[in-house]
Amino acid sequence: MGRLKTMVNTVLDKAILTKNDLVTLLNAEGTEALLLRQRAEQLKMQNVGNKVYFRGLIEYSNICAKNCYYCGLRCANTAVVRYQMRDEEVLDAVRYAYNERYASLVIQSGEISTPAFVDKITALLLQIGEITNHSMGITLSLGEQSKETLQQWRNAGATRYLLRIETSNPDLYCKIHPNNALHDFENRVKTLQWLRETDYQTGSGVMVGLPFQTIEDLANDLLFFKNHDIDMIGMGPYIEHSQTPLYQYRDMLMPLLWRFEKTLNMIAALRVLMPDINIAASTAMQAIDPAGREKAIIAGANVIMPNLTPQKYRGEYLLYENKPCIDEEADQCKRCLERRILMIGHQIGYGETGDSKHYVPEVSSALIQV
Ligand code: 5AD
Ligand code: SF4
Ligand code: FES
Repeated sequence: MGRLKTMVNTVLDKAILTKNDLVTLLNAEGTEALLLRQRAEQLKMQNVGNKVYFRGLIEYSNICAKNCYYCGLRCANTAVVRYQMRDEEVLDAVRYAYNERYASLVIQSGEISTPAFVDKITALLLQIGEITNHSMGITLSLGEQSKETLQQWRNAGATRYLLRIETSNPDLYCKIHPNNALHDFENRVKTLQWLRETDYQTGSGVMVGLPFQTIEDLANDLLFFKNHDIDMIGMGPYIEHSQTPLYQYRDMLMPLLWRFEKTLNMIAALRVLMPDINIAASTAMQAIDPAGREKAIIAGANVIMPNLTPQKYRGEYLLYENKPCIDEEADQCKRCLERRILMIGHQIGYGETGDSKHYVPEVSSALIQV
């Protein structure tokens, strides 16, 4: 233990972290892991402060054209009753978030790229802007889209975009997705690039504890975020879903608690690597541990996504099993999360968009280059 302790401390004292350094951090256990997470929390306080920002999550539709091997919403899963929220339901959720001073929204759905869907999102964005006086941060999480579509949504008022890379290892990516043009690793990386070019605050992330994934893969994921200059990250444990192809590998998975602890180490190591970005405490953490999201916050996360989806749809938006909050309404989740965050000595950034401090708008980076 004494030697290990020296290893984590030595790494934490370095100015530049290599892949091997990150592997050391990710392997930390017990007191070692505590040291890492305490340093991350300290760096968070110094760089982004102790506020936790709420992003009201609207799970707009579970209709998806894709067939990812890990996800309960994959198009081949016929057990899912598909829905798309009505405009009024979306706008009611927006009004709720605005009145409660959440200051940011996330609109998420399965991946659809039809002109009708693209235009529907544009129309909703315009209406949301009107209702909220253009004061809220609006994040989209709608999968891979063309550069034109991304630009259209950006012009209509979206400010941020989440597109998890899922894993930065192209071989592993191939193992967890069908092998076709719709599930192409390079296109996903290209889309991240387009997000930056169209001036979004760019978000990404990975799943932790996938079958075939190694600690080296996870260390490379962190370096991928750094190399791609990502502004915000959401990482969660992979949780098997019985109606998906990856379920066949459940016996080779590390235990849920291991995946949970490794995700905490990923959050902490990322805070050390990129101190000024926004990091989400993902809902999947709470599927494993009732206090999972709070634990993510005290390991370095500073963003949380209270669910705003009407209760009647929640049971049909199950990316993974054991998802929390499927019997609750928006107000219950708000009060619940508020209590949990205050309990761990953090404040909620009500009325503040909590933009990523890491983000430099395209126009100013162009100016800097001149
Ligand atoms: N376990 C954990 N996370 C999952 N996601 C999809 N399926 C699962 C699962 N079985 C995550 C993916 C996706 C995000 C919306 O949900 O990372 O990007
Ligand atoms: Fe569709 Fe996203 Fe699930 Fe893949 S992870 S099947 S794109 S909802
Ligand atoms: Fe939804 Fe606790 S966050 S009930």
